[in-house]
Amino acid sequence: MRTEASLQSALDWLRPKLREAPEVALILGSGLGALAEAVSEAVEVPVREIPGYPAPTVSGHAGRLVFGRLEGCRVVVLQGRLHCYEGYPPQTVTLPVRLVHALGAQRLIVTNAAGGLNPHFRPGTLMFIVDHINAAFRNPLVGQLADRRPLMRGAPDMSRAYDLDWLAEAETVALRLGIPTQRGVYLWTLGPSYETKAEIRMYRRMGADAVGMSTVPEVLQARQLGMKVLGISTITNMAAGLHAGPLTHEEVLQVGLQVRDRLERLIRGILYQQSAK
Ligand code: 6GU
Repeated sequence: MRTEASLQSALDWLRPKLREAPEVALILGSGLGALAEAVSEAVEVPVREIPGYPAPTVSGHAGRLVFGRLEGCRVVVLQGRLHCYEGYPPQTVTLPVRLVHALGAQRLIVTNAAGGLNPHFRPGTLMFIVDHINAAFRNPLVGQLADRRPLMRGAPDMSRAYDLDWLAEAETVALRLGIPTQRGVYLWTLGPSYETKAEIRMYRRMGADAVGMSTVPEVLQARQLGMKVLGISTITNMAAGLHAGPLTHEEVLQVGLQVRDRLERLIRGILYQQSAK
């Protein structure tokens, strides 16, 4: 099915089920799905029930949308994001972003598990994304800008992709909660393989602090739609060469579990602040 036809059928099916429009959309990365359980007044929708919505394939990703309230804030939690490395075209990967925007979400919080490139970062570090590098060379906006449908706008300015005001507010929340955070540049690789040592050296020289296989497509899409974006990486491991022994998906999930509590408190604080505005 063409992606815009898929979007319309998903919207038509979802809209009557929702009590209120979401304000903030939250995309949760590997092992970070627990927040979805905490949503109150929840309307839970397994994505496989949504017409036109592509089913996720990676283990550790549950695949549902949870609409409701977190800390008083109207949210939709997207659990089980799609990745280009699963074989989905980038336009398909960002269909959920177009969907939640069309349902009313004006803000997006994206989280991910990432490998640390900055030698000062330890596994378990929470990193606010200040900027990114698209080293996958895929773009979900390809073919979308020529389209004259109402949702479509021009090419987004990516020089301030991550909302600096929101980021500063989030840092204030972190400070108040006693949660240490860093700032850094996130680099997107297509995956699904991890990096060679030579690639890691290259990415470090390019100015990246963390490397991962997600987030950038969603941020490109969100910016094109005019959404405000906040990105948080969990550094689950040091990238190849900075890391002892081979890297496994299990290890990435394991550290994800350990920092989950801190990330959850941080996101709750950010949402509380948002609802108090
Ligand atoms: Cl080391 N590389 C990439 N590309 N993605 C990751 C990772 C590393 N660690 C977690 N996700």
